[in-house]
Amino acid sequence: MDRYLVFGHPVRHSKSPFIHTLFARQTQQELEYGLAEPAVDEFAQALRTFFDQGGKGCNVTVPFKEQAFTLVDRLSPRAKRAGAVNTIKLTDDAVLLGDNTDGAGLVADLKSHGVTLADSRILLLGAGGAARGALAPLLAELPSELVIANRTHAKAQQLAAEFCDLGHVTAQTYEQLAGSFDLVINSTSASLQGELPPLAPALIHTDIAIYDMMYGASDTAFISWAKQHGARQIMDGLGMLVEQAAEAFTVWRGIRPGTKQVLRELKRNLGVI
Ligand code: ATR
Repeated sequence: MDRYLVFGHPVRHSKSPFIHTLFARQTQQELEYGLAEPAVDEFAQALRTFFDQGGKGCNVTVPFKEQAFTLVDRLSPRAKRAGAVNTIKLTDDAVLLGDNTDGAGLVADLKSHGVTLADSRILLLGAGGAARGALAPLLAELPSELVIANRTHAKAQQLAAEFCDLGHVTAQTYEQLAGSFDLVINSTSASLQGELPPLAPALIHTDIAIYDMMYGASDTAFISWAKQHGARQIMDGLGMLVEQAAEAFTVWRGIRPGTKQVLRELKRNLGVI
């Protein structure tokens, strides 16, 4: 049977085996999908061993995405732009192809919620790996403007400069932010510590869409905050998780699984519904 897995550390709580097992059942693909948690300095060796032993493909998650970028034979254009690899496929001619499906997953999830990206004004909070992965796919949707705000302003400036060939993208400090945004995407890891990016409540209005790339069984700190200040369309990163997985599955198997039912089952599994 064709073997796939996700590399991460820690990875025990990963939902990827659950998601890909449902995709395989739905599309009648014969495959198994497992977990691997190598020590942080043993990822390269573990990756090599997996493919030497007949593995067909893998996902890569924190903290290995940047390292995976350096270990594959070839990079997709979107992985090159993201500077990180979350999906590896062993091609028919035995090449390890590194791809990145995170940004495509975000955009697919936004669209499935009916969010219009073309001509919209987008605020992206954070300038780490998650933001970098999202930028090219977001800009490909032709927003009128994309503003990056980050606690360390220099990192936002650096990202804006790196992606300005793809659209109207600028960096502003949290204090500089003004005007009306259509969509705010939180790519910071602040929610992990129960913290909030220092966003002025005045930026939240009833027609704004709020997306937190994080998710949990209960609302993230950012989502609670946005609700408190009157935002009505609020989304967390669970849909992005399923959509990036669907994109990876398509890269590996050449067949696109449906995501709606799988997302529902995942929510049930997490106790969200
Ligand atoms: P990831 O790969 O998930 O993006 P990362 O590269 O460590 O992780 O980036 C984390 C992002 O969250 C950064 O933009 C970080 O801001 P700094 O660049 O200033 O460190 C942001 N972040 C983390 N905690 C935050 C907090 N409490 N408030 C605001 N931003 C925060």
